[in-house]
Amino acid sequence: MSDLMQPIKFKSIEVPNRFALAPMTRTSAESDGTPNALMADHYEGYAKGGFGLVITEGTYTDDKASQGYANQPGIINKVQVDGWKAIVDRVHAAGSKIIVQLMHAGAQFQANRFTEQPQGPSEVTPKGAPLGFYGNQTEWQTPNAMTEADIQAAVDGFAKSAANAKAAGFDGIEIHGANGYLLNQFLSTYFNCREDEYGGPLENRLRLVVEVVRAVREAVGENFTVGIRLSQGTVTDPDYQLPEGESGFRKIVEAVRDAGADFVHTTDGDVNRKHFIKGDQSLASVASSVTGIELILNGNIDETNCQDVANQFPGTLLAVGKKALANPDFVQRLKDGKEIADIDFAMLQPKATITNELAWRKQNAA
Ligand SMILES: Cc1cc2nc3c(=O)[nH]c(=O)nc-3n(C[C@H](O)[C@H](O)[C@H](O)COP(=O)(O)O)c2cc1C
Repeated sequence: MSDLMQPIKFKSIEVPNRFALAPMTRTSAESDGTPNALMADHYEGYAKGGFGLVITEGTYTDDKASQGYANQPGIINKVQVDGWKAIVDRVHAAGSKIIVQLMHAGAQFQANRFTEQPQGPSEVTPKGAPLGFYGNQTEWQTPNAMTEADIQAAVDGFAKSAANAKAAGFDGIEIHGANGYLLNQFLSTYFNCREDEYGGPLENRLRLVVEVVRAVREAVGENFTVGIRLSQGTVTDPDYQLPEGESGFRKIVEAVRDAGADFVHTTDGDVNRKHFIKGDQSLASVASSVTGIELILNGNIDETNCQDVANQFPGTLLAVGKKALANPDFVQRLKDGKEIADIDFAMLQPKATITNELAWRKQNAA
């Protein structure tokens, strides 16, 4: 275990060990999107539990169509920035680093306090049903196809939010380009049916992602860590595959690197899943074959495979989701050789809030 527990330099961030908390939406902010004391306790808990890097939940980036869930936090005004500052301070005081995930929901839109009208690349709704544990909506609303002005506003929102994140004291930012949210929708041939310069071949579908990375880099300057989370699948269509396969995914990683990203965070059902239409590698192995970019890896990483994944991908951070929810002190338990529990999804019911998690913990305390 020693290598896993050693400090690692991740671009400008000195991370105390190789473990990151995966971003997880908790819909527990105030109704105006302000991060609160409950969230500060929550994130501090993971820092105290040994996670070297905390990645926050997806946080909305503008007062237009970026918010996707009720009680989702934002980072678009002073009150929200101050709320985040308090969380950043608590995580730092516990000895860990923290980056914020910036997210535009696009068509995966269940609640937004600024508008009732979702936006997306095209008038295409996500597959399946909205996520019950983020709210009660039963059907997806059809998004408006974004105009060039809408696209520019979304880019500006990411850039301003990135500057706000720096002002809040975060150690870096992660742009959400995965799981079927806006940037992932532009990359996807299911969501993106545009016939302009943002649709069609991969070079066009990549345009918005590249514009966002560039604008964010410009907003925060050179020495602030910026990365992007990437996946093929979405929350309601986990098996979607890029038609361009492995070589297309490599192009995306190279493009975000060239636009100014320091890291890519790959996520899949399993970190070693080989799921490209063309090719026999995992997302993680394709990304690791690209030079000049750091990596965070995610997907079913737990106590049984973390050492193997770390050995297979030296110098990377390992992001843990469900096992962290089940064991906020996952890393400390690993160090101490203590038992690690599996997740009980009842802790996220009826909604995935921190309050419901705490009630579940109280009920299930030994
Ligand atoms: C309750 C919950 C909320 C999540 N919210 C987000 C999110 O805000 N942003 C994101 O990129 N992924 C989100 N995810 C996905 C996780 O970051 C992670 O990719 C997924 O749980 C798979 O990793 P695991 O096998 O370690 O759990 C969420 C997952 C769960 C269970």
